[in-house]
Amino acid sequence: MKALQVQQLGSLDDIEIVEIDSPDLLPGQIRVAILASGLNYVDSLMIEGKYQIKPAVPYRPGSEIVGRVIEVASDVTNLKIGDRVFSPSGGFADEAVLSATRVIPIPDQLSDGQGATFMQSYLTAWFAFHKRAQVREGATMLVLGAGGGVGLAAVDLGVAMGMRVIAAASSPEKRQLALDRGAFAAIDVLNEDVKLRTRELCGGGVDMVYDPVGGDLAEPCLRALAPFGQYLVVGFVGGIPRLPANHVLLTNRTVVGVDWGAWVGRNIEENQGMLIEVLAEIAEGKLHPVEPVTYPMSKAVQAMRDLQDRKIAGKVALVPVFD
Ligand SMILES: NC(=O)c1ccc[n+]([C@@H]2O[C@H](COP(=O)([O-])OP(=O)(O)OC[C@H]3O[C@@H](n4cnc5c(N)ncnc54)[C@H](OP(=O)(O)O)[C@@H]3O)[C@@H](O)[C@H]2O)c1
Repeated sequence: MKALQVQQLGSLDDIEIVEIDSPDLLPGQIRVAILASGLNYVDSLMIEGKYQIKPAVPYRPGSEIVGRVIEVASDVTNLKIGDRVFSPSGGFADEAVLSATRVIPIPDQLSDGQGATFMQSYLTAWFAFHKRAQVREGATMLVLGAGGGVGLAAVDLGVAMGMRVIAAASSPEKRQLALDRGAFAAIDVLNEDVKLRTRELCGGGVDMVYDPVGGDLAEPCLRALAPFGQYLVVGFVGGIPRLPANHVLLTNRTVVGVDWGAWVGRNIEENQGMLIEVLAEIAEGKLHPVEPVTYPMSKAVQAMRDLQDRKIAGKVALVPVFD
């Protein structure tokens, strides 16, 4: 089998394509041919050694995949050869050996690419809205990075939960993806004053800010919150902001940390339940994961650079083509 391998943390250029022997199956395991692997912003952070989790090297980057079952251990009864399944692990390779109890059949409505790219983005939003924030039907929410993976999922889930969503993004294509998922307005972050525009759109302030971006946008967006508003800290692609405590105190605002990434490692069973609920809502047509942009695995580094350079609207999937 072929896989991508990170030889040392620090630079995206230290990824190599390696040929390795496929391991034999143990009891309870299946082998899948990977059809698509989701690429997340976190993957490049991890390779560059900038993420809070530092994997031991060498390691295979990536996580969520969709695969076709090509072999099952003799004691596996819940799956058969030919089934198309989602797995939260598997990474950037053409094959994976997985525990049969950790994969989930993929609804027919989802393409391979959609199935391989929804997990991290939607589960972060699900965790945020169900376990961290107080969500109220009819409440207004400003989503930053709304045309990126994490932001777009928050738009989709927020609308599905009855929130009125404003999408902030840099390009018409990104803003359109968010409007297509039900955002009632979009703000051009490069050419408009986000605080002013949000206040205009919400008549005084927004009830919630969902922020996977941070940087210079964070403070004006904190100031755009209505009384008792909630500021959800989700990520820092634009840099780690310093939020002034006086503007948290004023009008009784709350800053809420959202760390699904760390929580999931300690709550695997609960996360599996969340995954099943999200997939059910997708199958019912309540949630709408975006069709990703695809790259061959041999161009993974280019895909990561394009993501870092804000060139991607929506999500990225890698397909197992190595030349
Ligand atoms: N808290 C958690 O549990 C959790 C879970 C998953 C991911 N995350 C974090 O969420 C963040 C976003 O991840 P993602 O997958 O949504 O990434 P993404 O798909 O690349 O989207 C990020 C968006 O941020 C915007 N952006 C603004 N300034 C940027 C800059 N300097 N560089 C790059 N992008 C910039 C871009 O939108 P515009 O061009 O429209 O501005 C981009 O579309 C990452 O920091 C990731 O680590 C957190």
